Amino acid sequence: MLVNATEMLQKARDGHYAVGQFNINNLEWTKAILQTAQELNSPVILGVSEGAGKYMTGFATVAAMVKSMIETLGITVPVALHLDHGTYEGAKKCIEAGFSSIMFDGSHYDIEENVAKTTELVALAHANNISIEAEVGSIGGEEDGVVGMGEVADPQECARIASLGIDFLAAGIGNIHGVYPANWKGLDFEALEKIHNATNHIPLVLHGGTGIPEDMIRTAINLGVSKINVNTECQLAFAKATRAYVEAGKDLQGKGFDPRKLLAPGVDAIKATVKEKMELFGSVNKA
Ligand code: 13P
Repeated sequence: MLVNATEMLQKARDGHYAVGQFNINNLEWTKAILQTAQELNSPVILGVSEGAGKYMTGFATVAAMVKSMIETLGITVPVALHLDHGTYEGAKKCIEAGFSSIMFDGSHYDIEENVAKTTELVALAHANNISIEAEVGSIGGEEDGVVGMGEVADPQECARIASLGIDFLAAGIGNIHGVYPANWKGLDFEALEKIHNATNHIPLVLHGGTGIPEDMIRTAINLGVSKINVNTECQLAFAKATRAYVEAGKDLQGKGFDPRKLLAPGVDAIKATVKEKMELFGSVNKA
């Protein structure tokens, strides 16, 4: 069932668990995540970056594929189709294309411009029954060529953006996209607690979910994190499983080169990663 993400994240916040956002890149990724969510009776958010949307030939293709798959696979758990780190223009395109949720990442604008653009997109999203995430304090690492420094968000700026009527908020607390460097200082829980209290307990989003130690994930959930984004970990699992298949020469045996066979170990690896995360985040049987 394609739904906006507001209700599932409010339930997660109140129930002290988090819903995973898993980024999709193609049909195999999408199918693997949907099937795992259904098997575990978990709500799920499919994240689409602007780059992945372009790769899949556009947001309209993605929306049509996801809606059709939900129907043909008999997916009954709540699924949100969410634009990840959207630009102002990209957010508008996804609203038109039939996404059920968008993120407007205005963190690189000054706060006044972030406020103005977020306000406009909140009205547009809500008029279409679409949920909207905004960001304060850029997330570190690289996302579609944009490199953030991993700022810690200012609680007052978070309060201001939260008061614009957004449904959930991504606030930088030292988290980084991609693999964490060995000298990473960890999440800033003091900042997280201040942000949670300053924003009237709006559901908070933790980006950069790959490689965060399990105890930190649990603490973050206890401090109001209700959505956790995972991308790199699925990509790494997929690449590793595919490499093992090829290195074992299996693509040269029988019909091993058939793309459906060649991609199968990677798909299984994505399913295992998504399952592990849903169990850790506590969203199993919360559909
Ligand atoms: P990772 O790639 O580090 O898992 O982060 C994903 C993310 O935050 C997408 O917005």
